[in-house]
Amino acid sequence: FRTLDTADVKGKRVLIRVDLNVPMKDGMVSDDTRIRAILPTVRDVTKRGGKAILLAHFGRPKGERVAEMTLRPVVPALETLLGRPVAFANDSIGNDAAAAIAKMSDGDVLLLENTRFHKGEEKNDPIFTSALAELGDIYVNDAFSAAHRAHSSTEGLAHQLPAYAGRAMQAELEALEKALTSPQRPVIAVVGGAKVSSKIELLENLVTQVDALVIGGGMANTFLHAQGYSIGKSLCEKDLADTARRILIKAQESNCAIILPVDATVAYHFQAHTPTQTYGIDAIPDDGMILDVGALSVARINSAIDEAATLVWNGPLGAFEMEPFDRGTVEVARHAAQRTKAGKLLSVAGGGDTVAALNHAGVSEDFTYVSAAGGAFLEWLEGKPLPGVEVLRRNG
Ligand code: 3PG
Repeated sequence: FRTLDTADVKGKRVLIRVDLNVPMKDGMVSDDTRIRAILPTVRDVTKRGGKAILLAHFGRPKGERVAEMTLRPVVPALETLLGRPVAFANDSIGNDAAAAIAKMSDGDVLLLENTRFHKGEEKNDPIFTSALAELGDIYVNDAFSAAHRAHSSTEGLAHQLPAYAGRAMQAELEALEKALTSPQRPVIAVVGGAKVSSKIELLENLVTQVDALVIGGGMANTFLHAQGYSIGKSLCEKDLADTARRILIKAQESNCAIILPVDATVAYHFQAHTPTQTYGIDAIPDDGMILDVGALSVARINSAIDEAATLVWNGPLGAFEMEPFDRGTVEVARHAAQRTKAGKLLSVAGGGDTVAALNHAGVSEDFTYVSAAGGAFLEWLEGKPLPGVEVLRRNG
């Protein structure tokens, strides 16, 4: 695909698709990670005399103008981080947008209102796409985290305007390719978290790609149950037992080592600082809940990481948001961070909970790459082509 290096932006209206689907609290941006991610692209365009016109969605207003889903509150956060004024247009197409663009000088920044206020956006309707395309001379996609959507602003525009990948998109794709498409082997993947049904499918693809797969969190309980262990009252999706068994067979066929917990931290109430005990996985009490991996499991996972050259991580190993069930995740995260700092491991992590867990462990800076994408990161792990990326490869 074409990167910004090859784009002639001077004096041009540059439509930049960014992801401003940021957490908000009391009408203010409460986590600006995604805004920080787009700064290199916006600065690059403005420095070179382009007009930076930002396109983004917020929430899921389903084609209606929902007042709480306006992008206006993002403007002050953007202005602070960019250190310059940012104009706002009340609509993403039509007269409001055109008038705001007409007022721009070269090097200015404008944010257009939530593209999802129009039904055409999610339908990737060519009429809506044309209304967007009229506003710009070139299109830059810098929203990897929205690239799993085939919408007008993430996919359609690349058919109608010269299309380029922005800096954040480029960095994300390069990091992800190093981790899975052409990685240094052995590759180890760590998959955990509580959302078993939405994630179990991705294991089917992963076992064919990686040399070892660590399964933790609620996902591990489902596998342990499928193997016939009694897991007490632990979180588990029993109807996925067949899927879990199929994945275990596929892993064997693909020479992928599966690493499941051998011991677990068990509690009787899901409460912070509640009494806990560690049990071997074949001795989980009937009324107990597995809430974290135990110390033996951590040691096994860490020594498996020592064997690996590349690590891909999605999902915590236990209920990390509550102490002491954060311990397993924190210890493994710190170990992986140390290996990375020592130059022995390339580590890539992604997904909302995973980023929160790495922040909690204080190691996000030490990983090679941490992706702020949620759904897009998972679909990429599943091996699905992402429409917003594919179109850049074809047209860019
Ligand atoms: C995200 O927050 O993961 C992206 O912005 C995509 O949002 P969506 O799931 O509403 O399409």
